Amino acid sequence: MLNKTILVTGATGLLGRALTESVPAGDRVIGVTRGVTSGYIDSALQFMQTDVTNQDAVNRLFDKFQFDVVIHAAGEGSVDAVERDPILGRLSIVQGAENLASISRKHGARVIYISTNAVFSGDEAPYSEAAEMRPLSLYGQLKREAEIVFLESDDRCSVVRPILMYGWPLHGQRTNPVAFTVSQLRANQELKMVNDVWENPLYNIHCAEAIWQVMKKEVPGVMHLAGQTRLNRYELAVATAKAFRLDPDLIKEVDSSFFPTLAPRPRDTTFRVDRMIERLGMQPLSLNEGLKRMAANES
Ligand SMILES: NC(=O)c1ccc[n+]([C@@H]2O[C@H](COP(=O)([O-])OP(=O)(O)OC[C@H]3O[C@@H](n4cnc5c(N)ncnc54)[C@H](OP(=O)(O)O)[C@@H]3O)[C@@H](O)[C@H]2O)c1
Repeated sequence: MLNKTILVTGATGLLGRALTESVPAGDRVIGVTRGVTSGYIDSALQFMQTDVTNQDAVNRLFDKFQFDVVIHAAGEGSVDAVERDPILGRLSIVQGAENLASISRKHGARVIYISTNAVFSGDEAPYSEAAEMRPLSLYGQLKREAEIVFLESDDRCSVVRPILMYGWPLHGQRTNPVAFTVSQLRANQELKMVNDVWENPLYNIHCAEAIWQVMKKEVPGVMHLAGQTRLNRYELAVATAKAFRLDPDLIKEVDSSFFPTLAPRPRDTTFRVDRMIERLGMQPLSLNEGLKRMAANES
């Protein structure tokens, strides 16, 4: 029996892919990206080419499918790309949110918006959902605006904030510190990692599992998702090298001043995950467990 018809935007991204590969039994997902995604189809899944910044295109999509739920994970995810091109950043993040919020409301679809830890300054960790948002980067500011668009549009809306995610990206999609470390070390390349940016990183598939619980339990409001292990980016790279049996000596420890041209990053956005545990009944995954699952999941 078909339960829900779900729109997943950003379906080929790190999170979107994890969502589309773990669709709850009986539900149907329509995945949306701007790119060509043929060859990536199974029976629970259908891909459409739709740019979420194009209101007419989003309207046509909603006219074609009766969505019960919208998981909005599409948009520019690179902090530096948004800083370089603020107009494109606003279009991608805020215009996309406005289109999806208004059209979802018109059609009665419940929204789960995927936000970010970049809404915080990094000075007051660990962060609960109630902590004040004080973004350092334009990316964080635009994500905060998008959160407000959704929360003001429908009080059933959920805003999920994943912290730094790791997992296998699709070829051609944005990488992440763990996948990057593995590829560099496998190529015997030295890499520099900062020792002053702290998080409790989240395995992308565990993030997807938690989002399906948010949907199933219809948890409104803001929800933080993170792993159990707090560490800095250098330590993350070393743990990755060990988990994948690669050479940690190729990883050099630097601080953020080594990368002066990068957009400002919050230093410590470690999340509290009490709400995830209480409302979703899920325990955060340790880094070792997440890396083990990732290694077993390599295709
Ligand atoms: N990765 C992290 O560590 C992290 C941490 C915190 C929060 N987040 C948030 O989590 C969400 C998902 O992140 P991610 O890392 O999975 O993203 P990602 O890997 O960068 O992928 C972005 C996805 O969005 C699609 N997309 C981009 N612009 C689009 C548009 N205008 N219309 C339709 N599709 C579009 C891309 O495909 P095309 O290019 O083919 O369109 C791709 O499928 C984002 O909202 C991000 O802010 C991510």
